[in-house]
Amino acid sequence: MQKLKLGSKDLAKENIQKLSTIFPNVVKEGKVDFELLKQILSDYLIDGCKERYGLNWVGKKESILKANTSLNKTLRPVVEKSVDFENTKNLYIEGDNFEALKIIQESYLNSIKMIYIDPPYNTGKDFIYKDNFTKNKAEYEEEIEAIDEQGVKLYKNTDSNGRFHSDWLSMMYERLLIARDLLKEDGVIFISIDDNEVHNLRHICDEIFGEGNFVAQFVWRKRTGANDAKKFVSNDHEYILCYSKQDSFSLRGIEKDFSNYKNPDNDPRGEWAVDNLTCNKTASERPNLFYDIVDPKTGIVYKCNPNRVWAYEKSRMNQLISEGKIIFPKNPNGTPMYKRHKSEVKSSFKPISSLLGDFLNANSTKQLRNIIGGQYFDHPKSIDLIKILLKQSTSKSDIILDFFSGSATTAHAVMELNAEDGGDRQFIMVQIPEIIDEKSEAYKAGYKTICDIGRERIIRAAEKLRMENEELRIDMGFRYFRIDTSNFKESKDISEIDQNNLFEDVDNIKPDRNELDLLFEVILNLGLKLTLNIKTKEILNKKVYFVENNLLIACFDSNVDENLAKELAKFKPQKIVLKDNSFKTDNDKINFEETLKELSPESDIWVV
Ligand SMILES: C[S@@+](CC[C@H](N)C(=O)[O-])C[C@H]1O[C@@H](n2cnc3c(N)ncnc32)[C@H](O)[C@@H]1O
Repeated sequence: MQKLKLGSKDLAKENIQKLSTIFPNVVKEGKVDFELLKQILSDYLIDGCKERYGLNWVGKKESILKANTSLNKTLRPVVEKSVDFENTKNLYIEGDNFEALKIIQESYLNSIKMIYIDPPYNTGKDFIYKDNFTKNKAEYEEEIEAIDEQGVKLYKNTDSNGRFHSDWLSMMYERLLIARDLLKEDGVIFISIDDNEVHNLRHICDEIFGEGNFVAQFVWRKRTGANDAKKFVSNDHEYILCYSKQDSFSLRGIEKDFSNYKNPDNDPRGEWAVDNLTCNKTASERPNLFYDIVDPKTGIVYKCNPNRVWAYEKSRMNQLISEGKIIFPKNPNGTPMYKRHKSEVKSSFKPISSLLGDFLNANSTKQLRNIIGGQYFDHPKSIDLIKILLKQSTSKSDIILDFFSGSATTAHAVMELNAEDGGDRQFIMVQIPEIIDEKSEAYKAGYKTICDIGRERIIRAAEKLRMENEELRIDMGFRYFRIDTSNFKESKDISEIDQNNLFEDVDNIKPDRNELDLLFEVILNLGLKLTLNIKTKEILNKKVYFVENNLLIACFDSNVDENLAKELAKFKPQKIVLKDNSFKTDNDKINFEETLKELSPESDIWVV
């Protein structure tokens, strides 16, 4: 019987393990001798720390360390805030996104096809996070000096708030480090950003995803007209940085809109639309394209415009006329047009770096207001903008993650796209329960946190989609989870135990936690997905959970003995989980394991 390891994965330890298999002499007593490693990997003599190209800032090293350290937190299901908890494959996670990413890291490793994030842009008032690495000015100066002494170049903002960029960079860096691991090999990340940090963000993305995996820096227009900004230029655009996990990735391209292609004359060649028959050249530039043409049916002569001549030479034009590819207007002064059939047109355009369309902030705000009934969230992104990114990068059954979810525009876009193309893309939204100002309209309307707004938006967007199409059968539910400390008490150090607390830890589960809490912590710790199907059965008066049929069977009831083992063995489960102290006696624990080994030798048995 194996004891299930709790808490998120200790990546540093695992990587050290991997390193030691290649360079056994570099790892001593679990610690890496970096100088030796550097020396082994270099063809010159290493003399101390060398500066290298890259962006550095105060707190960068701590961020790397933080991203690699394990976290003793978990996700607790909130069934009453979920929609269609039993069947849905979508997730809404309430909590800090660094913690969320760490907690789901193992379960969703190499699983996410597309990440879209719209982080705070570091405008001076939009950046909230709950890490405690924010240092006071004195600590910061001290640290700068310390690092300067080692010769490492620092990014330093010289204004009075010198930590401004560093704090933001650390916040992004440690999150992106984990996010990359979650992407599938053919996965892609899109990051909304503006001029405040785009240059820094590109540096850290180049470092994390690799310069070669830079796909594009898309530009899109957020407003019309100038604003009253104090700067010289009024910015009316923002960016979306795009990086792939591997350089073999390519975007699908934007599908061409064929809605104006019709077939009113039942042309056997199929649907068509009218197109220009002229080109942007003059008669003197292209004399061979300057000639009159005649409609063979009516005999009407159409003059060529000397400033914009025909697109084809006479012989080709005659061929097109005989094939019925030219449409002649009734008016002799009108311009003949080209009859372009759908079959002649490529179905998609190569993506271009300027995203064209109506994505204006004002309209996105209106879109959201129409859904949730008031001006409750500032600057949501456009559903159509995110849909373009989804269309270019995802297929119908992919998982999409947004860990700065805000009003949950991404969830809305995923549902809309699924409704359009019958897909079953799944979303994972993560949002910190940022408190809403008591004086705001949103608070007066009953919203206490941004999560309340995001959750409500998903519910109402689903209602709207259902109203628009009663036949719609797509997944519009979500399992709602909240980040909390582990359900299991931390085991006391032997020195902490005395006569008074000797029996306190007999049950290692915190008193306010229920069985579903335990089940999901087990699911996470076994690296399984949070959307697996869960059924319960009563067996020998015990409640037994079946996760994805027989993938995992769990029972957290007490007084377990070998009779239960005989019953569970019939299902030939891949994994069985029980509470360590749930056996009637120590003998029952041994007999339980022996019985299962005999009747279902393939089953792994775990205790928590
Ligand atoms: C710019 S908004 C995203 C807006 C979103 N794209 C939309 O269309 O509604 C950024 C969001 O990230 C959230 N946020 C900031 N720090 C966070 C953190 N550490 N964990 C989770 N969410 C965070 C903020 O509360 C805010 O709602």
